[in-house]
Amino acid sequence: MSSFHVPLKRTVDDSYDIQIGRNLFDDLVQDLLNGLTPKASRYALITDSNVEKLYAKDLHQKLTEAGLKTDLFVMAAGETNKTRETKISLEDQMLEAGFGRDSAVIALGGGVVSDLGGFLAGTFGRGIPFINYSTTLLSAADASVGGKTAVDTPHATNLIGLFNQPAKVYLDIECWKTLPVREIRSGLAETVKHACLADSELFEWLELNINSICSGEVADLDDAACEHIAYKNCEVKYTVVKKDEKESNLRQVLNLGHTAGRAFETLCGYTYTHGECVAIGMVVQIEIAFDRGLVTEDERNRTIALLKKCGLPVSVPEGTSLENLVIKMRTDKKARSGKIRFVLQDGIGAMKSFEGGSYSIPLDEEYILTILKKMM
Ligand code: GLY
Repeated sequence: MSSFHVPLKRTVDDSYDIQIGRNLFDDLVQDLLNGLTPKASRYALITDSNVEKLYAKDLHQKLTEAGLKTDLFVMAAGETNKTRETKISLEDQMLEAGFGRDSAVIALGGGVVSDLGGFLAGTFGRGIPFINYSTTLLSAADASVGGKTAVDTPHATNLIGLFNQPAKVYLDIECWKTLPVREIRSGLAETVKHACLADSELFEWLELNINSICSGEVADLDDAACEHIAYKNCEVKYTVVKKDEKESNLRQVLNLGHTAGRAFETLCGYTYTHGECVAIGMVVQIEIAFDRGLVTEDERNRTIALLKKCGLPVSVPEGTSLENLVIKMRTDKKARSGKIRFVLQDGIGAMKSFEGGSYSIPLDEEYILTILKKMM
C-alpha cells in the first residue's frame, strides 16, 4: 500500500468593491473594459422576467455596444423559481450557446437572481467570476453582498449552495423607484435586523427617519435616506463577514429573526415576502430575548413599533399551525443534532454571546411553542 500527502495550501484574496449610487450601467461597462474580470471574453447576463422589461435590455445593449460579447438569459421571477431546476435550465442554455470557462456572469436583479446567479457561476466550468448588479433594497441590504449563494429546495430555503464572493457589487438606488411598496418594506425588515444586531444609532435614525423611505402604504424614497441605509447595511454586514466569512460562529448573528422567519416563509408557501417573514421572525426572537431578560420591555416595544412603522407584520398570522412552524424550524441551517437554535439580541444594537462563546443557543421545542402561543 502506498499513500501520498498532497500539500495544497491556499492564500485567497477575495476582496471586492461595492459601489453605491444611481444609474451605474456605464460604470459597470467601464469597469469591464478596464479588466474587472480579466479572463472573461464573454458575459452571461442573467436576470428575471420582471427586471428584463425594466433594465436588462438597456444593459444588454450598452454592453454589446461597448464590444463586450453578451447573451441575455432570463429566469421566471420569484422565490419559487430559485431552484435547482432553474439553475440546470440556465446552465444548459449557456452550454448550448457555447459558454465556457472564459466567461463571466452578471447577475442583474434582486436576491433571487444574485443567489442563483452566484451559485451557478461557482459551479459552471468549476467556477467562473460573477458580478452582482443589485436592483432592490432587499438584495442591497442582504443577498447581493457577503458571498452566500444558493437555491431553495422543497424542504427549506437556501439549503444547496456555495460561499462564493463576487468580483464587484453595484447597488443601484435609482432602481428602487420601480419597486412595489411591499418590496421596499421587505428590504426595510433586513435593515431593521442590521440595526438591532449591531447599530443602535441606525436604529434611532430609522425611528426618526423611516417616513422618508416608506410610511405604511406609500414609499417616499428620499435619495439621501436611501443612500444612508444602503451604506449602513453594507457596513454592518461587512463588519461581520470579514471576521467570519464561512459562518463558523459570529456570522450566525446575521440570521437574526431568520430561524422562525425562514420556517414561516416555507410554511406559507412564499405568499409572504422574505422581509415580512423576517419581521415576524424578529418579533419571535425578541419575545424570547425578553423572556430571558436580554432586552427590556421598552426595547421590545420599540422594535415591534419600528417594524410596524415600516408596514411589516409583527405577529404570526392567524390560522398558522404553531406546531408545524416549530417543526419547520428544524430545517434551519443553525440546527445541530436535531436541536433548533436561535440567535438573540442583547439589548438594541448588540448580540448575545452564550456559554462557550457561541452566538446561537439551542432551545426546546416546547419552550418555543410556549412563546409563540403567548404572542398570539
Ligand atoms: N443573510 C445572512 C448572511 O449573509 O449571513
